[in-house]
Amino acid sequence: MKIDLVTIFPGMLEGPFKESMIKRAVDRGLVEINLIDLRSYTRDRHRQVDDTPYGGGCGMILKPEPLFEAVEDLKSKSEYERSWVLLMTPQGRRFDQQAARKLSGEKHLILICGRYEGVDERVRTALIDEEFSIGDYVLTGGELAAAVIVDAVVRLLPGFITEEAAANESFSDSFLEHPHYTRPSAFRGMEVPSVLLSGNHAEIERWRRKQSIKRTCERRPDLLEKAKLLPDEKSYLEEIMRQQN
Ligand code: ADE
Repeated sequence: MKIDLVTIFPGMLEGPFKESMIKRAVDRGLVEINLIDLRSYTRDRHRQVDDTPYGGGCGMILKPEPLFEAVEDLKSKSEYERSWVLLMTPQGRRFDQQAARKLSGEKHLILICGRYEGVDERVRTALIDEEFSIGDYVLTGGELAAAVIVDAVVRLLPGFITEEAAANESFSDSFLEHPHYTRPSAFRGMEVPSVLLSGNHAEIERWRRKQSIKRTCERRPDLLEKAKLLPDEKSYLEEIMRQQN
């Protein structure tokens, strides 16, 4: 996969991809990540990327010309037939795991980091395939949102995580993770649940699934509405509901 990030602050995006698992994915050739300075697509002396809004008002708007030239150039340089162009904006659709999974199937992503008050509307209508928000809050720009999306997408690329972890993924889409413990088995009077020390893998699996459902019920009941529950999960959920009421 190839990911191009178009920004006027490339420095903001240098750190996240030079560390940890994403760096490994880059080093192993699973993904190529390029930071593109929007100013390199300006033609004027001042390298102007933004301007005041027609009709008045405060704030600056990203101009259409550099963005169109950048995206057209990146598309023409790409070895892939299709490029999928994303705009980071609080007005976009809420980014979630399902969107991450869909994007991980693309070969070439171009992420545009919005800035200031927004972008010229012609960019939205003629250049962008999809607009994403990472949550209902306003950031100073789309850079951090782009880093979040790249991280969530890259970890889903084939070969990034083990198959076992990938299999758990479909489960963790609907439910929150069960509690985790590591050594020591007793710490400051707090004991690890004995089932986890039992070596009985079927029992452990059952305990984990139940804990997952319980957590989801307590913390994110909204996720359960979308969940496809197995019969035994359903009866356990009903039991938790009864205990809560
Ligand atoms: N730009 C500013 N705020 C944003 C958000 N919440 N999501 C994506 N891009 C943004």
